[in-house]
Amino acid sequence: MRISEQIFPRVVALIVSTDENEKENVMTASFLMPVSFNPKYVALAIAEERLTFENIKKTREFTLNVCSEEMKEKAIICGSYSGREKDKFELAKLEKEKSKVVKPSLIKEAPISFECRVEFMKKFGDHWLIVGRVVEEHVRKKEFSPLLHKTGNLFPSLGK
Ligand SMILES: Cc1cc2nc3c(=O)[nH]c(=O)nc-3n(C[C@H](O)[C@H](O)[C@H](O)COP(=O)(O)O)c2cc1C
Repeated sequence: MRISEQIFPRVVALIVSTDENEKENVMTASFLMPVSFNPKYVALAIAEERLTFENIKKTREFTLNVCSEEMKEKAIICGSYSGREKDKFELAKLEKEKSKVVKPSLIKEAPISFECRVEFMKKFGDHWLIVGRVVEEHVRKKEFSPLLHKTGNLFPSLGK
């Protein structure tokens, strides 16, 4: 059994990163957790083969954009292709918004977006644990139903 079928549901977010030439990419992630209230820190686990990992290792910045239930199809698209083969912003019809502090953009559809700077990275098994300090936050909606993930394309609803 995969660990994703054993520890669930997990909130889904879109992670935006850039390469050294500021070319942007977006990927779906559900291996994430809050780490600290004040200052705010978040942790992600990202597999080494992702373009997102390569970008974050080089630039040490990302934005984390929490997905609402309505963003399910967009999250599936951003989790199904690599930015090495497709422009997922275009494919998923995502609207970008300029960040205040970091280079990667924000996703306008997301109810909550964090701008993050990486302070810690370490490999554990087949993923890297990445801890980011939230240097700016954007709250577009306080009340929303988060998109929840189990494994693969299984997204359990609250109360079901
Ligand atoms: C709902 C969902 C959650 C995912 N969560 C993660 C995750 O937390 N970490 C990870 O490395 N990959 C995760 N993935 C897989 C990546 O999103 C996928 O491999 C993506 O194509 C990588 O894109 P990139 O190469 O452009 O970075 C998830 C996929 C889906 C659909």
